[in-house]
Amino acid sequence: MPESLAIGALEQSFTAARTFNKFTDDPVDDATLHRLYDLFKWGPTTLNSQPLRLVFVRSAQAKERLKPALMPNNVDKTMAAPVTAIVAYDSRFFEHMATQFPAMPGMAGLFANSAAFAQETGLRNGSLQGGYLIIAARMLGLAAGPMSGFDAAKVNETFFPDGRWRANFLVNLGYGDPSGNHPRGPRLDFDDVVRIE
Ligand SMILES: Cc1cc2nc3c(=O)[nH]c(=O)nc-3n(C[C@H](O)[C@H](O)[C@H](O)COP(=O)(O)O)c2cc1C
Repeated sequence: MPESLAIGALEQSFTAARTFNKFTDDPVDDATLHRLYDLFKWGPTTLNSQPLRLVFVRSAQAKERLKPALMPNNVDKTMAAPVTAIVAYDSRFFEHMATQFPAMPGMAGLFANSAAFAQETGLRNGSLQGGYLIIAARMLGLAAGPMSGFDAAKVNETFFPDGRWRANFLVNLGYGDPSGNHPRGPRLDFDDVVRIE
């Protein structure tokens, strides 16, 4: 049976990991963004559907385009973050299924025939992949600050005008400055959350 990762790995990804609001001035280069994708892309999705799509908003010009969509409490930290990932999903993710899940070529048709099923599957798996992204970032030594406080319609209009990709949530990324962290919140107990049947 495989063994658990070392305690340090568990701390860095979960127990000691925090949501970051402030980052150092160190930039996040293209190689690091590639490394991040090449790690989290291996997380599982329904029928290997991989609906997540990303825009890494890094230039000052692109940040200015994002700014009007941010809720006021998210503006300063997002404008200051080295990178802000727009975690989106492709509403027509199933068009890649022939190559990504060749074992069941007919499945793409199920999604093509039901926008509701495609939306549910896209959002579910795109959200899962967004979670993988956050934990993968921590594993690589990056810090993440996820946010849902923004106007998705505005982001869609600005970044995805053809309507195919749809914004889900945002994640500020960089090298963490813990001076911006809020006090650690508690977590619900096992018995509040879990039933074993
Ligand atoms: C999907 C998602 C949306 C969030 N939205 C916001 C947000 O809009 N603004 C903000 O300041 N924090 C936001 N947060 C941060 C959470 O409040 C934070 O992750 C949580 O309290 C746990 O903090 P910890 O990781 O430091 O324990 C969001 C987190 C997630 C995962």
